[in-house]
Amino acid sequence: MREIGIGVISLGWMGRLHASSYQRLPSRFTELGIRPRLVVAADPIEENQQAAIEQFGFEKAVASIEEVLADPEVDVVSICSPNFLHRDFALAAAAAGKPFWIEKPMGVSAAQSREIRDAAASARDGAGIATAVGFNYRHAPAIAHLRELVAGGRLGRITNVRCWFYADYASSPEGPLTWRYDRERGGSGVIGDLLSHGADLVQHVTGQRLAEVTATSDVFIEERRLPLGAGVGHGAVAVSEERGPVENEDWVAALARLDGGAHATLESSRVARGHRSDYALEVFGTEGSARWSFTRMNEFEVMLGEGGTEHGYTTVLAGPGHGEFAHFQPGPGIPMSFDDLKTIEAAAFLSDVVHGTTSAPSAADGLAAAEVCEAIVRSAASRAWETVPQG
Ligand SMILES: NC(=O)c1ccc[n+]([C@@H]2O[C@H](COP(=O)([O-])OP(=O)(O)OC[C@H]3O[C@@H](n4cnc5c(N)ncnc54)[C@H](O)[C@@H]3O)[C@@H](O)[C@H]2O)c1
Repeated sequence: MREIGIGVISLGWMGRLHASSYQRLPSRFTELGIRPRLVVAADPIEENQQAAIEQFGFEKAVASIEEVLADPEVDVVSICSPNFLHRDFALAAAAAGKPFWIEKPMGVSAAQSREIRDAAASARDGAGIATAVGFNYRHAPAIAHLRELVAGGRLGRITNVRCWFYADYASSPEGPLTWRYDRERGGSGVIGDLLSHGADLVQHVTGQRLAEVTATSDVFIEERRLPLGAGVGHGAVAVSEERGPVENEDWVAALARLDGGAHATLESSRVARGHRSDYALEVFGTEGSARWSFTRMNEFEVMLGEGGTEHGYTTVLAGPGHGEFAHFQPGPGIPMSFDDLKTIEAAAFLSDVVHGTTSAPSAADGLAAAEVCEAIVRSAASRAWETVPQG
């Protein structure tokens, strides 16, 4: 077993999930021969430091990332901080020559994402470092299979795609005005937060790039209560009576043209009352179509061919023949979880670190999604079609 020293930066929801994903790697992806060693976690909140040691078994917990990056025992880092810290932390990791697995959105803007991609590519005197970005929905076995259906031509020529990422985590106006709601710290609201996943999924499954977009967006809850402390995840923090302004997008809808000739609609909301975490993709081609929803992550529907009295979608339960399913369950129809998607991402990242491959969603993919998000923001302002810069 090859040991890889891990530093996790920020121990909120995602930092804890990265830590547990590394821990599960040797038992789920035994053939990789990799044993992650949780060396150090960095978080300014003392109880998160304590949790790092007591709940996850990190050897050390510190307040600042400098100690993580200077530690010779740390081979790679996870960057799980609020969006506005990603750029500085990623650039520091690249300067220290440490490969990183960073949460999405990679930067709060396309410019920041480009800086991150470039810093990773030129790290270690131009040799570059491995990177991974938290586009975890890619790893659902059903999505892996949809991608294979498209690549193998089973759906024919891809004509159009529908993708929506609808959630209600921000639907209450009584929730805290956290960093997620200002433009400087949170970026483009639900566009960077959820639609970036959708942009990545559309590009990943079709193998085509979103080339041009036109969009409209809105803020439906204009003020939220000021938080009285820090919490984990999207809420769970005491709030004051006082309210402050929401600066970034609650909802967005976009039309897109893909560079391979297909069309797409993308929609996203963080205030969609009733939709808890409804993330879905439908791909249509000249020979058939296929669709998947995160609310039923372990299945997909497919319709191939023509006519007949049973013409329509067939529901297929995910099984060992789909994506990385076999690493988690022995037989079809036994559900995997959201956390398993992150274990797959950890495996791809560390395998890339060891073998110099690019199997995980990379910083280049993070930039590609960020360019789509920013073109959407531009289009919502200009009310015109906007080109998505490539490369
Ligand atoms: N891939 C996914 O599906 C997914 C899901 C949720 C969140 N995310 C992303 O993960 C990132 C973190 O989100 P979260 O929900 O875990 O947030 P969170 O609020 O739960 O955690 C953020 C953590 O950052 C820590 N932190 C704050 N300032 C810091 C500093 N200066 N140095 C180090 N740590 C600091 C906080 O103490 C907290 O523990 C965001 O970019 C978010 O978009 C991705």
